[in-house]
Formats: sequence, C-alpha cells, structure tokens
Amino acid sequence: MSKQWTPASWRDEKRLQMPEYPDALALADVEARLEQFPPLVFAGEARKLKRALAKVATGDAFLLQGGDCAESFAEFHPNNIRDTFRVLLQMAVVLTYGAACPVVKVGRMAGQFAKPRSANDETIDGVTLPAYRGDIINGIEFNEAERIPNPERMVQAYNQSAATLNLLRAFAQGGYADLHKVQQWNLGFVANSKSGALYKDMCQRLSETLDFMAACGLTSETTPQLRETDFFTSHEALLLNYEEAMTRVDSISGDWYDTSAHMLWVGDRTRQLDGAHIKYLQGISNPIGSKIGPSTSPDDLLRLIDALNPDNEPGRITLITRMGADGLAKILPGLIRAVQREGKSVVWSCDPMHANTVKSSNGYKTRHFDSILAEVRGFFQVHKAEGSHAGGVHFEMTGQDVTECVGGAQDITEDNLSDRYHTHCDPRLNAEQALELAFLLAEQLKDDRLA
Ligand code: PEP
Ligand code: CO
Repeated sequence: MSKQWTPASWRDEKRLQMPEYPDALALADVEARLEQFPPLVFAGEARKLKRALAKVATGDAFLLQGGDCAESFAEFHPNNIRDTFRVLLQMAVVLTYGAACPVVKVGRMAGQFAKPRSANDETIDGVTLPAYRGDIINGIEFNEAERIPNPERMVQAYNQSAATLNLLRAFAQGGYADLHKVQQWNLGFVANSKSGALYKDMCQRLSETLDFMAACGLTSETTPQLRETDFFTSHEALLLNYEEAMTRVDSISGDWYDTSAHMLWVGDRTRQLDGAHIKYLQGISNPIGSKIGPSTSPDDLLRLIDALNPDNEPGRITLITRMGADGLAKILPGLIRAVQREGKSVVWSCDPMHANTVKSSNGYKTRHFDSILAEVRGFFQVHKAEGSHAGGVHFEMTGQDVTECVGGAQDITEDNLSDRYHTHCDPRLNAEQALELAFLLAEQLKDDRLA
C-alpha cells in the first residue's frame, strides 16, 4: 500500500467535512507556497513521541493531551499560550507526583484550527450561510465574506502555529518548566482556589524531595530531566489540503511524515475506512489517534486498527474513546476484549468531553463537570475490570478563567456561563476545573498502580 501512497492519495477518496473552495487557482497557489515552507516539527521528534506512547500502551506512562477545541486568530496571544501550557504542566506534575507515573504531555495546540460540524450551513433570521469550520477555513462572523472558505487562512494558521510552537519550545526547554519553579506556575485566579491550595501543598512536599535530591547531587544543572520537559503538539487532521502540503519525506528514514504536528488524530465523523482521511493517515509515520464514538463495534475497531497500524507497531495508534459514562460501560468492555484477543498494541485514552455536550436552558453549549468526571471514572473502572491500561486523557481546556463548563469546585452555574464564554467551538474546562480534575485523576491512577 505504502508503495503507491503519496500525500495526495486522499484526493481519490470520498471526503467528508472539508470545504469547497470557490477559487481553485487561489487554493493551488496557497498549497504550492505551503509546500515550500519549513516543517513545523521534525520526524525525529515524532518518533520520540511514538516511543513515549509505546510506554503508555504497556502501562509504564500516562498520556495527558489537552488544549483548545479550536484555536483562533482572535485569541492568539502569548499569555494564552503560556497559561494553557502552564496548566498542562501543573496537571502533569500533579499526576507524576501523585501517582509516581511519567506523563507524556501533548497539546491540542499550534495547529488545532479545523472543525467538523454537524450541519453544512447555518441559518439566522432567514439568512443561510456556510457553517463556521474553524479559522483555518473561514471566519466565525455571520456574513458572507467571512463564511466563504478562504485558502489564505491556511498561511495565517501556519504562521500562528509556527510562532506558538516556538514559544512552547522555549518554555519547555528554556527553564520555565524547571521543576524547581512549580510553585510559580500556581499564579492567577487558580492560586486562591481549593485546587490551588492542594497544589501549594503538593509543591511543599515536592520541594522537600528536590532538596533531598540536591543533597545527593541531582540538581537542575546536573539533571536535565528536572530542568526541561518534552512537550508535543497535536491536532485533528481534518483539512487535508493543509496536511498534504506539510507532508515531507524524512531524510533519515525515507518515510513520509506530516510535519504540521507531532501527532495527528482522525475525528469521529471522518474515520470511514474508505474515506479520504484514513487514506491520508495510512501513509504518514507519525503517531496517530482515532476518536472512538459510541457506534463503534468490536469488528469496526479491529478493521480501523488494521488500516492504521497493520504492523502492530507500539505507540502508533491511540484510541480516544468518547462515548459518555453510560455508553462506555456498555461498549468499552467488548472493544477492549477484541483488542486483547487479537493482541493489538494500542494506547487507550479517554475524551470525556465530546459525548457530554449539552445545551443549557439559556442557550449555551456547555458540559457538566460531573458528567466529565463520571466518564473518566468509568474509563478507569472498565479498564481495571478488563485488566488493561487506562492510558490517558484528552481534554478541551484553557489556562484562562472562562465560564464554559458548569460545575466544579467553583460551582459555575448556567447563569454564570455568559460571564466569560469565549470559545470558538466547544466549551472548555477552565484552569481551575482542569487542575481539580488532575487531582481526581491522580487518585485513580495511584489506585490503579497500587493494584
Ligand atoms: C474534537 O476533538 O474537537 C472533536 C470534534 O471531536 P470528535 O471527532 O470526537 O467529535
Ligand atoms: Co471539540
């Protein structure tokens, strides 16, 4: 298969959820320019992530994947990047310290722009326009000029991704992520919360551990693992024109890599075996994720795994289940058994967001903290019962103090939603809710590892 595969092979297959660009010449021009741009990530980094995920598959590490539902041009700001990175670091250290488990950190950042939609069009006051599909495709404002797909947006998304990734690399490697600074990550509105207090307490104990290690000669100077961290990027591989243009042959291995992110995933709406998105993902060597919704049968799942990981390579495939707590209890055991029976190496990750989206009585798309928690708890329970590894979590979250999901210790109510509802797509956990979830997760993970 890979012999005839090219980055353009998807063009012969049925494509769903992709825009019709009215100006074919402008599109071709943008694609040709993007092909000349420098890669955003390099293949060796994607291989490093694959090795880390192989450890997750065997239960020797935990995957923490999170970030925006949709990045936007309007919210592009260094503080936003810093704050989301910071919360992910806080969550990771809570998990690492609480459960003594290495955490693989992957952002939904630096490229998470394209969105699948349930309807192609949107009608307001009798006017029908194409649905908003993410800033890389069209604009969110409800007027014709904004809603027509514009290929130049791909160039802006590339530039924003490059700048975002540059800052993330600086934070991860340049001293910000030094474990001696954990206390300083606890700033802003989170510090005064209940989770903030728990975090402060953990920092105190961590600091004693670090003092002990320093006395043994392990300091930031001698031990790079204390000073810096690996941080990887990911997004949904939805807009294949963009992904194709970013696909390059790695000169070391001779294999194709999508250099727009370390990890790419296929959404629940576009993972048809004979579709364009699977065709594209089959040919690239990056670690790949697939969302797994409640309609998936064990046979469907095995066929999907065979299509994306025919060589059963460890770390290649992450199955991101998103089925709600009830769906999970019914469906996940059968899926796990099928995977075990066939001896497939997979990472199981839990997205407790996308099956828990509801409309509030005052018209906001929201999610209840308790439903999110129930799905995460169910995920751990089922894996424990089936003797497999609850490998990771996948969250939509932000470092900002938004009011998009209801509940949590802050007890955000439906009436509060309008206060700071900023998302361009789905409702995200705010920094405090995300940290609260990390503490609850650490408990689960600790139990699991003790068992
Ligand atoms: C998403 O992750 O934002 C998304 C659209 O998820 P799903 O494909 O699982 O619906
Ligand atoms: Co989403």
